[in-house]
Amino acid sequence: MKTRGFAVEVIDKVNKMQDRAEVLRTAGKSIALVPTMGYLHEAHLELMRVGKRHADVLVISIFVNPTQFGPSEDFERYPRDPEGDLRKAKSVGVDIVFMPTVEEMYPEGFQTTVSVARLTKHLCGLSRPGHFDGVCTVVAKLFNITKPHIAIFGQKDYQQLAVISRMVMDLNMDIQIIGVPTVREPDGLAMSSRNAYLSEDERPSALSLKRSLDLAEEMFKQGQRSAKVIKEEMVRFIESHPFTEIDYVSICDPVTLEEIDTLGESNLVALAVRVGNTRLIDNKVIGNTE
Ligand code: PAJ
Repeated sequence: MKTRGFAVEVIDKVNKMQDRAEVLRTAGKSIALVPTMGYLHEAHLELMRVGKRHADVLVISIFVNPTQFGPSEDFERYPRDPEGDLRKAKSVGVDIVFMPTVEEMYPEGFQTTVSVARLTKHLCGLSRPGHFDGVCTVVAKLFNITKPHIAIFGQKDYQQLAVISRMVMDLNMDIQIIGVPTVREPDGLAMSSRNAYLSEDERPSALSLKRSLDLAEEMFKQGQRSAKVIKEEMVRFIESHPFTEIDYVSICDPVTLEEIDTLGESNLVALAVRVGNTRLIDNKVIGNTE
């Protein structure tokens, strides 16, 4: 499938993508992959720029993966804009867009799941059961289909990056994973395809996520080390904004994602908040960020 007027190559079949990747590898080219669910925004494009710098050929995937959405989640209404996405992909020099259908990725008889055990028992894993199984399975498939040397993920989805890094390590996948810092709107809101759901009234409340993370960091800098005290302050702050409903506010170990009581040298503060009907996430490592 070629889209008229675009130099970027669009592939929608698994075997065609695999053949293409094999030819590139045989020719000695390195491949970078940026997996996405489309409705591309500036943060996705930043990941692509990083990918471009790290490899000869930049492949992106655009696939709204049904298996990572829960039954009451937004799979059906997840925003989609294939034409706009191809235009944006072209603008940052993407070479190949892999854009399969659901049937192509999950043909009849499909029954395999990749599951990372412990890292998925925290944060978003608690409120979105099965979500990370869906993510790991689709990402493992995308790796096998596009055969990348390098794959790029955003730190905005901190747990996703941790889980995928673990999967790659545990299954000896020969792929280097690169994490890219969270890209934000000028006012601090972490970019997300789901921001498109926010109404004008809700938008200011969405800022409470980032501001509560800044508040936590400020308290840490002032010497506060009690996770309970910091979380209470964050909750109080977020709840002072209309339309907000907290899913979780967590202070945890940045490697194991296990909750901590007393902050140490390096700490992950992560949260998920529903603003109206839109579930938003954000996080920040406070203390030593190395
Ligand atoms: P999606 O939400 O489209 O995100 C694609 C990539 O962009 C992910 O690595 C995500 O962390 C990154 N990203 C999104 N917003 C970002 C921001 N504000 N700053 C930095 N990076 C950001 O994440 C997924 O899709 C899916 O779960 C996927 C990995 C494609 C598997 O289906």
